[in-house]
Amino acid sequence: AGEQDLAGRHVVISAGGTREPLDPVRFLGNRSTGRQGYALARAAVARGARVTLVSVNSELADPAGADVVRAGTAAQLREAVLKAAADADAVVMAAAVADFRPAHYAQGKIKKQEGAEPEPLALVRNPDILAEISADRARPGQIVVGFAAETDDVLANGRAKLARKGCDLLVVNEVGEHKTFGSDANEAVVLAADGTETPVPYGPKDALADTVWDLVAARLG
Ligand code: C5P
Repeated sequence: AGEQDLAGRHVVISAGGTREPLDPVRFLGNRSTGRQGYALARAAVARGARVTLVSVNSELADPAGADVVRAGTAAQLREAVLKAAADADAVVMAAAVADFRPAHYAQGKIKKQEGAEPEPLALVRNPDILAEISADRARPGQIVVGFAAETDDVLANGRAKLARKGCDLLVVNEVGEHKTFGSDANEAVVLAADGTETPVPYGPKDALADTVWDLVAARLG
């Protein structure tokens, strides 16, 4: 503790969950609160980094010492992350990003038509921000970290996802109705592109954050 091993580094962290609007009052969203990303931001500040936190629909208090940028949708998150990542040493995508968004946005509130069946909801794919920044590093040696919440075959799915996304580290955890989201604790395995696996026992999100920065700092050299 107290080690300034990220001094002089700029790190970018996304936290929270995207909301994709259907109309002015409705959205497709998820249960992410931003706790893990905010823990990562606090830990990085404590280790001396300059921190840009891209906060996505989180109600948590701004972490002291971090630059906080806000985004709502996946498109806004992508723009904010790409901009901040331009001079970043590490990018950690802890936000839960909607894979799909409504194909159409209704300018006025969608109304139910008396006696009629509802319209099917048409969706289109969102860009995969993590895959994009991994494939197209803004600077050489930039470390990119993703998170993957899995409900089954956690390790096998995690390894496949690490390869597919092309990031350096993937933090994999098992989620369920009462696990991870909104909780202060987490249990995870950090998979690295070099094949190493770092299990993180059930514990506070602050502890997982420090393990992630240990692995990032080691790779920044
Ligand atoms: O594919 P999946 O959604 O499980 O991947 C999760 C990881 O990918 C997270 O790090 C998340 O922030 C990132 N992601 C992204 N853009 C998307 C979907 C996920 O950057 N459209």
